[in-house]
Amino acid sequence: MTIISIAPADRVFVLTGAGISAESGLPTFRASDGLWAGNRIEDVCTPEALERNPALVWQFYSGRRADAAKAQPNPAHYQLAQLEAKLGDRFFLCTQNVDDLHERAGSVRLVHMHGELNKARCSWECGRPPVEDRAVYGNLSEVGLCACGGRLRPHIVFFGEIPLEMEKIQREIDRATLMLVVGTSGSVYPAANFVHWARRSGARTVYVGPEPPLNAAAFTHVVEGNAGEVMPQLLQVE
Ligand SMILES: NC(=O)c1ccc[n+]([C@@H]2O[C@H](COP(=O)([O-])OP(=O)(O)OC[C@H]3O[C@@H](n4cnc5c(N)ncnc54)[C@H](O)[C@@H]3O)[C@@H](O)[C@H]2O)c1
Ligand SMILES: [Zn+2]
Repeated sequence: MTIISIAPADRVFVLTGAGISAESGLPTFRASDGLWAGNRIEDVCTPEALERNPALVWQFYSGRRADAAKAQPNPAHYQLAQLEAKLGDRFFLCTQNVDDLHERAGSVRLVHMHGELNKARCSWECGRPPVEDRAVYGNLSEVGLCACGGRLRPHIVFFGEIPLEMEKIQREIDRATLMLVVGTSGSVYPAANFVHWARRSGARTVYVGPEPPLNAAAFTHVVEGNAGEVMPQLLQVE
């Protein structure tokens, strides 16, 4: 069994993907058939889809909200919250997930680079900040308007859009000495490049998931297994 030890001088950067929420019952997409909960990505997760058929996009994300609200964090989410409690500001979590299972497990120092299911923002990009929105909409006419008159859209980074908080993420990767990547296929950029950035500054890089990701060659360790089973035994804080 692999044990990764964390020394007092280490700074840990964690990147998680859909796989960490799989054992909580939320489907991943690449791992199966390229569909996300039965939908083609280009029909629900692109700016063109929002333009063409906002009702379908809202119907899809309403479904994801309902699923995430029913799901519970699993041992892998709790393990990362406990690690943060031990390491304080030597810990940073970046998730590609749009669910809130990390927060519900107790993580605080985290960014959602691909947005958050429980928020909405102006589709006219007027500059007003995202608002909390947990509604499960049955009809497009129920979706609220921004103060500027634009219809709200899910606060989700669609394919082709620029991820959030990239400056902060880059800064944290540059100073990390250990990068832990959990449950991501290594097919979505720029997240798939983070391991290369970490290697450039000499960090150890560890992947956890049931199969090697597409960028497996860039990791110093690949630990094969389900996150909920592997994570509770993996790390030792010195
Ligand atoms: N829960 C969510 O928020 C959610 C769910 C699906 C997709 N997405 C979005 O879609 C994109 C998907 O890219 P991605 O790389 O995160 O996911 P992905 O669907 O491309 O890949 C999932 C990866 O998780 C691994 N996996 C499956 N079960 C696992 C387990 N029990 N433990 C650990 N790993 C496991 C698979 O081997 C696979 O490599 C992300 O940008 C994300 O925003 C989000
Ligand atoms: Zn607006």
